[in-house]
Amino acid sequence: MVQQQPQPAFYMFKCMQSSPPNMPKPSCVRPDNRDHFQYLAQTLMQKGIIATVQPIQTSCLGRCNLGPVMLVEPGHYMYTAVDKSGIDRIIDEHIIGGNPVEELLIQDAFWGDAIPPSQMAR
Ligand code: FES
Repeated sequence: MVQQQPQPAFYMFKCMQSSPPNMPKPSCVRPDNRDHFQYLAQTLMQKGIIATVQPIQTSCLGRCNLGPVMLVEPGHYMYTAVDKSGIDRIIDEHIIGGNPVEELLIQDAFWGDAIPPSQMAR
């Protein structure tokens, strides 16, 4: 008999894009924060919620000037300027506590409503 495997309750998409040297636009990964995805995964493991929360490394999420960024789903919660203390707060307050961390959420001016699929085609 096959035991049903539950879906993750959350996905945490951590931008791990690093730009080549001399690239004019900034990127989320720099020499001083290359270990932040590992830190995210280890913290989820230490708290015993890695089976419920799926950490995912992504490339650019399109908000490079506000990085390092991390998108939490469900809900399209885009976090900016995420460092290790931000990762701790997002896990403790948003994932475990159910309260998104307002101070780290992207400002509305940079995160307008999504374009509905019906209006995407030109
Ligand atoms: S490099 Fe991270 S959002 Fe573009």
